[in-house]
Amino acid sequence: MEFFEVLRKRRSVRRFQDKPVPREIIEKLLEAAFLSPSSFNKRPWHFIVVDEEEKLLALSKAKLGAAGLATAPLAIVVTADGSRSDVWVEDASIAAEHIQLAALDLGLGAFWVQIRNRMHDESKSAEDYVRELLKIPENYRVLCIIGVGYPAEKKEPHGKEVFEWGKVSHNEFGAKFKR
Ligand SMILES: Cc1cc2nc3c(=O)[nH]c(=O)nc-3n(C[C@H](O)[C@H](O)[C@H](O)COP(=O)(O)O)c2cc1C
Repeated sequence: MEFFEVLRKRRSVRRFQDKPVPREIIEKLLEAAFLSPSSFNKRPWHFIVVDEEEKLLALSKAKLGAAGLATAPLAIVVTADGSRSDVWVEDASIAAEHIQLAALDLGLGAFWVQIRNRMHDESKSAEDYVRELLKIPENYRVLCIIGVGYPAEKKEPHGKEVFEWGKVSHNEFGAKFKR
């Protein structure tokens, strides 16, 4: 697919068909993640591929806004070694977005479930909940979970309404970027 078509068509898909994602497609998603840039090329990430139904169901209860994972045949949990990089959030975010864009290009749908800075309940962070469930070591931080699968909902591609030219300045903040 043409690159800008991928960008326009990428929408958050949160309902999925009951159809597994083939192994070779999962590997392509991970290749997309591995092609990400990272600060000082430290590549601090670690991805956890989850395709066990029970674990997906448990992940769907990580926090509000994770429910879509209950119908997803696949989740990729994006973590990074916070002790290796002070900008692991940025590194892991780029990798997560690569996965989402690659998913669209491969005929899949995907959505981002934020884990960092979110709570599971009043006393437990969503990060600790996921850490305990998937046995993630302490030095690895959990950024997000990308739910992936064949879409069971249709989303319209983004149109011109997203082009917010008023949010662009020219040479100094607030100076109009004329078009
Ligand atoms: C940092 C970040 C956190 C997000 N967290 C969630 C989330 O926890 N649950 C969810 O369903 N969608 C989440 N989303 C998806 C957004 O809701 C979605 O991207 C936004 O509404 C725009 O819709 P679109 O992706 O279809 O363009 C998140 C997206 C980003 C970038």
